[in-house]
Amino acid sequence: MTATAPTRTEPLIHTRADFPLLGHEIDGHPIVYLDSASTSPKPQCVIDAVTRVYRDLTANVHRGVHALADEATAAYESARREIASFLNASPAEIVFTRNATEGINLVAHGLGLKPDDEIVLPALEHHANFLPWRIRARPVTIGLTEDGLPHYGDVEAALSSRTRLLALAHVSNTTGVVAPVERWVAAARSRGLPVLIDAAQSSSHLPIDVRALDCDFLVLSGHKMLGPSGIGVLYGKRERLEELDVYQTGGGMVRYHGDDRFEVQDVPLRFEAGTPNIEGAIGLAAAVDYLRSLGMEAVHEHSQELGRHLVEGLRAIRGVRIVADSAPLEDRIGLAAFGLEAPGLSEESVARLLCDRYHVLVSGGYHCAHILHHRLNLQGSVRVSTHVFNTHEEIDVVLSALEEIARW
Ligand SMILES: Cc1ncc(COP(=O)(O)O)c(C=O)c1O
Repeated sequence: MTATAPTRTEPLIHTRADFPLLGHEIDGHPIVYLDSASTSPKPQCVIDAVTRVYRDLTANVHRGVHALADEATAAYESARREIASFLNASPAEIVFTRNATEGINLVAHGLGLKPDDEIVLPALEHHANFLPWRIRARPVTIGLTEDGLPHYGDVEAALSSRTRLLALAHVSNTTGVVAPVERWVAAARSRGLPVLIDAAQSSSHLPIDVRALDCDFLVLSGHKMLGPSGIGVLYGKRERLEELDVYQTGGGMVRYHGDDRFEVQDVPLRFEAGTPNIEGAIGLAAAVDYLRSLGMEAVHEHSQELGRHLVEGLRAIRGVRIVADSAPLEDRIGLAAFGLEAPGLSEESVARLLCDRYHVLVSGGYHCAHILHHRLNLQGSVRVSTHVFNTHEEIDVVLSALEEIARW
């Protein structure tokens, strides 16, 4: 392994104490959690916010007529405002969903797509940002370089009179590379087309300002950004949301229902049929508040630094093939996926070995990006992904474990 800098500053090391999961042990050894791209541990403030709802605030929202229901509704709507402010959106543009997947399905359904309509997207997209388009319309994919980076600059050439929307991950869950979304937004603007940004991997690694990005839709998942599972957000420009057909019908999304007709609520409530994930929304607001207290610029810098350390270390290990290795290091977050030549071991078994022998938790497999792996001729990859609490020392632990495995 290459020598890493002997002393590195760890500006966010104090956050480790906030995450009870990091005290978890396997066979008496503390875990090294490097799987936040899959789902992230939760800080105590998020656990407390969710617990408080169960303990002190259990009441339905937007339905009840008693004092506790008023309080629950106020907390739920305050969560919406907190998340709107985090993204620089207005609260009416924030729809609570189950996750990023549901946000994308909501838009794909709401656009009323026809089989001949075209959706332009990079070929490496997560299944969540591919299949909802594919089952309704024709995906037009942007090709990949030999190491898996999309030819983002080909976007203009991919547009046609049938294009209905452009969709792309802000940060791919397999390359860890930040996409040039501004370029895609500009291409879309020149044709009056909407753009959807999948921010599932970026929302807690870099600052996001939807007004500055000028995107039409953006989705994220709470569980990947230190928040609870089962809660996500769809941001949509108000006029774009108003154009969408409703996705689900039921209680809460109608203002009037008579024998002859029904009238839907204004956005965003018309997209929140049924009792929402109240504790999830409040927990997600606590996660956002926590991230903001650290400062998103500092969070981004830490993520970039860990990504740089990881990729430089991986490059020095024999038999490692990093996905999108040609991307500039400054364009990466703290995430990298790679194939590893280890006799008799699949990428999944390397991941399992890292856990069983070294107590390092990572992902192994296709990471819901089958097409990317097929094109790279990889039978899966190992993915190491970081978050605010990870340290350079932990990166060294996984690098030396991989070096040992590669020497077997
Ligand atoms: C880039 C990206 N998009 C979408 C998703 C889907 O997220 P969820 O399963 O929370 O809906 C993921 C999950 O890994 C992802 O990494």
